[in-house]
Amino acid sequence: MLIRERRGWELREGEATPETVFRDRRRILQSMGFGALIATAGLPGELALAAAPAADPSAGLYPAKRNDRYALDRPITPENLATTYNNFYEFGSQKTISDEAQALPIRPWTVTIDGMVEKPFQIAIDDLLKRVTLEERLYRHRCVEAWSMAVPWTGFPMKALVDMAKPLSSATYVRMETFLDPKVAPGEKQFWYPWPYLEGVTMAEATNELAFLVTGMYGKPVPRQDGAPLRLALPWKYGFKSIKSLVKFTFTDKRPVGFWQKLQGNEYGFWANVNPAVPHPRWSQATERVLGSDERRPTLIYNGYGEYVASIYKDLQNEPLFM
Ligand code: MTE
Repeated sequence: MLIRERRGWELREGEATPETVFRDRRRILQSMGFGALIATAGLPGELALAAAPAADPSAGLYPAKRNDRYALDRPITPENLATTYNNFYEFGSQKTISDEAQALPIRPWTVTIDGMVEKPFQIAIDDLLKRVTLEERLYRHRCVEAWSMAVPWTGFPMKALVDMAKPLSSATYVRMETFLDPKVAPGEKQFWYPWPYLEGVTMAEATNELAFLVTGMYGKPVPRQDGAPLRLALPWKYGFKSIKSLVKFTFTDKRPVGFWQKLQGNEYGFWANVNPAVPHPRWSQATERVLGSDERRPTLIYNGYGEYVASIYKDLQNEPLFM
């Protein structure tokens, strides 16, 4: 991604704080009698721990039934790795933002649907959850930085949200926005980034069966660092398209320019479909580092999901589909 310091993917694996270590630090401090202090004032420097975030009111909806149509070719990534090795620039450009992300309030949370629709509306996340059927899907997740995970997401097809929105026939794209609140997300004070985080897809992509709006992960509500309470998973595209903590869906006839595309359009494009044969200008995409193992695997075109999505692109061969 955009490099100002050491690149995120250059972090050694050991520099990510696994969830178990984090929990252990908390347990040890509590047993030393620091519990009240942790809860009220926090602790300085290395010992600082955030107060426990409020419980998620949607917890009772999980685990949801698994949809076996989406099978993996590799083991599921351990939960403590997938939830502590993150890209969420709102909370910092390093991978270890899971503690900081606990500051994000996820209730009340309102989602706005506007633009070229029959009637714009807003809906509270818990009302949205009542209108959809949740299912679990196992998806591969391939970051443009050439690492990958395999994640049990819970959520609902994006098509269900498109149907709810009743777009006009003139709408050709969906533009999506992350929350904007620099008070809780210190990264959003960094003026050189074009906040809020923004992404876009075509209507054909939004309604493809793989496009999945995620509300849960590992049989529980999705944690804040992974994009609570609502994020996207587009498993055939590089991970930066899978926008987190969504507050707005705008139906439009203008192609949205995403956060990374705005910053560095020659490296991060609109389509960003995974392709091992098209290198990033600064590194190869031929293989990927499988998080949680020593394995490097050959990357697959469309991240292995070509049978579902290749037909979307058959008449678009002059577009830069793979950057
Ligand atoms: N969404 C927002 N709002 N902010 C981000 O920084 N990073 C993207 C994507 N969505 C990002 C985002 C990138 S680069 C990746 S690889 C995935 O989120 C990472 O998702 P994960 O942390 O759940 O693995």
